[in-house]
Amino acid sequence: MENIVWHEHHVTKEDREKIKNQKGCVLWFTGLSGSGKSTIANTLEERLNQMGYHTYLLDGDNIRTGLNRGLGFSQSDREENIRRVAEVSKLFTDAGIITLTAFISPFIKERKRAKEIIGEDHFIEIFIDTPFEECAKRDPKGLYKKALNGEIKEFTGLDSPYEAPTHPDIHIKTLEESIPTAVEKIIFYLKERGILC
Ligand SMILES: Nc1ncnc2c1ncn2[C@@H]1O[C@H](COP(=O)(O)OP(=O)(O)OP(=O)(O)O)[C@@H](O)[C@H]1O
Ligand SMILES: [Mg+2]
Repeated sequence: MENIVWHEHHVTKEDREKIKNQKGCVLWFTGLSGSGKSTIANTLEERLNQMGYHTYLLDGDNIRTGLNRGLGFSQSDREENIRRVAEVSKLFTDAGIITLTAFISPFIKERKRAKEIIGEDHFIEIFIDTPFEECAKRDPKGLYKKALNGEIKEFTGLDSPYEAPTHPDIHIKTLEESIPTAVEKIIFYLKERGILC
């Protein structure tokens, strides 16, 4: 970091937020594969867009085809994947955008690190809580079938742990809450927190 000097910008996060009538933040979705992160995040983004808010969705597989192409699924690559997503989310937040991220992010430590990078005031953890058996039954990408046949190693929930959030800001149980119910619950929370002005 020698010879690198941070340049203070004249236009601040607050200046950018003011013209959008919203607060920049990160809605960090976490949950097993197939739990419903992408489905709920997509529907929520659509709803927020229709309401006139400026959003952006960073979704696991899409990011792995671009920014994080070349990263695999080893422990260190998974950590680097999440670190980069957190850094990008931080920039989007500073731009005043409501940023949605949909990554399994199974480890408490990595989510804690993401929260530290982004800043706790701007980090909203959303736990998409769906039991393993239900995710395996839905299997939208056919990954559970492969993993249960031994074709994928270190699959979250099977031979790699999922550490559920202990105090998520928003807890969605998809066996009990439909997609529209989940979306309305998140919007209610965002209004209460003053994110949507
Ligand atoms: N209440 C619900 N909420 C969300 N998804 C639901 C619900 N009920 C059924 N589903 C279905 O569950 C599946 C969830 O798949 P989705 O791709 O959103 O999971 P994901 O968490 O993004 O997984 P991955 O980590 O592999 O990307 C979809 O087929 C969706 O239609
Ligand atoms: Mg997804």
